[in-house]
Amino acid sequence: MSSGLRIPDDEKGHDLNMFCIPKHYEDDLERVFIPHGLIMDRTERLARDIMQDMGGHHIVALCVLKGGYKFFADLLDYIKALNQNRDTSVPLTVDFIRLKSYHSEESTNKVAVIGAEELCSLSKKNVLIVEDIVETGRTMMTLLPLLEAHNPKMVKVVSLLVKRTPKSLGYKPDYIGFEIPDKFLVGYALDYNEYFRDLSHICVLNENARQKYKAC
Ligand code: IMP
Ligand code: MG
Repeated sequence: MSSGLRIPDDEKGHDLNMFCIPKHYEDDLERVFIPHGLIMDRTERLARDIMQDMGGHHIVALCVLKGGYKFFADLLDYIKALNQNRDTSVPLTVDFIRLKSYHSEESTNKVAVIGAEELCSLSKKNVLIVEDIVETGRTMMTLLPLLEAHNPKMVKVVSLLVKRTPKSLGYKPDYIGFEIPDKFLVGYALDYNEYFRDLSHICVLNENARQKYKAC
């Protein structure tokens, strides 16, 4: 199991002016932390690693909403590309579940699950859970037993990001895009109180944004 591409604690990121940022977020961001192109390149390789391990049978890709939707869509595009360019290919079907644990920048201890009643359709299937970011690990540690109760044939988890944080409960996904420092990041569907999902790059917020988009 790889820990993903490690971004060191002293990584400064990149000047915003070197990239295209939507006008409505120009005053809200500190730095670009992971440019969109790098996310895509790493995702392409994750798709290859996943297909090497799971590419023998029908895969059900389970998207953890809302934060996982961009990564899910791009990862599946790369898996599809592999499927249509090899001598062998497997059917890929999709499912969605919504888990919510965050309030502003704090992970709460309670994880709300929306859509768990549909999980029975995953029985006897090879399931790939697609998540945006693992911080404490509580979200995954809530979802996995719910899924296992329906006896899937195989369950693997891919997370675009894993945070190095003392708050971690020790859970590690099977596939990891990037291992990141203990920072709150937004963009590429990661949100701060629902904002910044419509930003292509993964960025660091500034103080202005923390106030401007504060939860009511
Ligand atoms: P965990 O349950 O503590 O592992 O947290 C996982 C969930 O918290 C993720 O699926 C995200 O929705 C959210 N989250 C954790 N860290 C961040 C962050 O830096 N930015 C945005 N959302 C985050
Ligand atoms: Mg998430």
